[in-house]
Amino acid sequence: MCGIIGYNGKGNVKSILIDGLKALEYRGYDSAGIALSSINDKEIIKSVGRVAKLEEKVKNESKLTPKFGIAHTRWATNGASTLNNAHPHTNGKITLVHNGIIENSDVLKNDLIKKGVKFYGDTDSEVVAALINYYLDDNDIVDSINKALKMLKGSYALVIMIDGDNNLYAVRKDSPLIIGYSDNGYYAVSDISATLGNAKKIVYLDVNVIAKFNSDTITYYRDCKEIKEKVIDVSNISFESSKDGYEHFMLKEIMEEPKLVSNFINKYLYSDNSFYDISNYKRIDIVACGSAMHAGLTSKYLIEKYDKIEVNVYMASEYRYEDKIYLDKDKTLIILISQSGETADTIAALREAKENGIKTLGIVNREGSTIAREADYVIMTEAGVETAVATTKAYIMQVLVLSLIAIKTSIKLGFSDKNLLDEFKKLPHLIEAVLNNSDNIKSIASKIYNIDNCFFIGRLIDYAMCMEASLKLKEVSYIHSECYAAGELKHGTISLIEKGTTVFAIITDKSVLDKTISNLKETLARGARGIVITCDDTDTDFDLEIKVPNAPYFIEPMVLIPSLQLLSYYVAKERGCDIDKPRNLAKSVTVE
Ligand code: AGP
Ligand code: GLU
Repeated sequence: MCGIIGYNGKGNVKSILIDGLKALEYRGYDSAGIALSSINDKEIIKSVGRVAKLEEKVKNESKLTPKFGIAHTRWATNGASTLNNAHPHTNGKITLVHNGIIENSDVLKNDLIKKGVKFYGDTDSEVVAALINYYLDDNDIVDSINKALKMLKGSYALVIMIDGDNNLYAVRKDSPLIIGYSDNGYYAVSDISATLGNAKKIVYLDVNVIAKFNSDTITYYRDCKEIKEKVIDVSNISFESSKDGYEHFMLKEIMEEPKLVSNFINKYLYSDNSFYDISNYKRIDIVACGSAMHAGLTSKYLIEKYDKIEVNVYMASEYRYEDKIYLDKDKTLIILISQSGETADTIAALREAKENGIKTLGIVNREGSTIAREADYVIMTEAGVETAVATTKAYIMQVLVLSLIAIKTSIKLGFSDKNLLDEFKKLPHLIEAVLNNSDNIKSIASKIYNIDNCFFIGRLIDYAMCMEASLKLKEVSYIHSECYAAGELKHGTISLIEKGTTVFAIITDKSVLDKTISNLKETLARGARGIVITCDDTDTDFDLEIKVPNAPYFIEPMVLIPSLQLLSYYVAKERGCDIDKPRNLAKSVTVE
């Protein structure tokens, strides 16, 4: 999940790298570093913490007028967030930045130590620098890099500098890396937004293809032989994002939800290109991580209810290692949901599905992402650039796509009348009503912001909503929040309920309303404080309530969740948390 950028060109290398790093900081921010080269001279400057600290150090310490450079913002996987472990890493003539995890780095490191190589840090990335330096043969640098790559197990995106050489070398496997073509040079970046709109053409580097570039030319090599890569024009795609006057990206992105939903519905409600016909399948596996998995869990209740198709929802990190039994591969569909389209676990599940000859549908938000390029079928959620690490608008758009699939399939199968689609037209206004009713949500936030832990309980689709509500609260406010199926709490975990414990209950499915209320009362009987999130037409006479407008079963989740996204936002604000970049997190988990 680190963010990496390399630039070789005639522009202002320092500012291009630092500004690019700021655009990549969502990918991790434990430490940052930069290496600058004037070919015969090199500077490496690093800092622990945010890119702003690195920028200050570069301003105060850098003396070089560089011709090219590399920079990195880290999300630590191997080795603590220390200065020694900050990238770039160097060994001998090699300096590099790395995104990914080298799974056999300990074995390689021990072998290199036996050969007399010295190390200063604890990272796997430093081992890669040492290995390339070990193989470095100044006659054929590409061959030397290739030799080292063959020794690596795991994932990597690398941008490499070599003392005395005016080229940068970029190569990837399982971590994203894009080559950007600009008017004054070439980029190698984790995410095209790091070129800040300067790259009008890009190349998605294929696995183990080495890009060698200076300020004027670029050459690609596969197995040391020169090849051509497909250059894509991106001049019409905007990668910019700004807060548009909001205090945080998270609030801005929540407030965008009505418009995004409206745009999507206007474009696709009655057309078929936002829709993948699932009516012929007998089994659907939905595989994703985090909030994307929660969107899938919500859709399970919709697809099973309206389409009578079996749906299994899996965490991708579990799914990829499970023994799977597919009785009828032709009648099985695997849906992969991912905002970034670069989540390592979800990509692994996609690739395994394809190896098994099972059709795959990707529901993603990033054009050109790995999942968007490799799935058999793709639906773009069109949520725009989502900058806050905690997803909000992209999650709502995922649920919208899945809900449309469920209802359109239901109509195709003859289980529902086509007029049911008209209900979607009310959705933007219903979300707007929720977002405009923020005073009550702010008031509840001010009553609960200083708690240390809480529970979210619900049944069926309400349970799926609890999963997302609980994750949203804990990831931005650091309150330990636990989601529990309402009926399950009494089988042990209720022992944690004590006087003052806050218990949220989401109740929209009226078929289990009384059951969930009685589960909530079981906690109140033990001193808990209950907060109910339910529909306008439901009376539960609890002191603390969040009421949202009534909507059909397949619409309600997209009306209710924004209220709890707002609650999480205001609680985190009261607690003074770093809302857009919560500690320890990164926007795209491109490592296992
Ligand atoms: C979102 O709030 C979370 N930070 C995280 O769970 C995220 O949903 C998960 O990492 C999956 O990311 P993806 O949608 O890009 O695959
Ligand atoms: N494994 C490298 C490190 O720990 C890179 C981490 C990452 O890409 O998130 O520094």
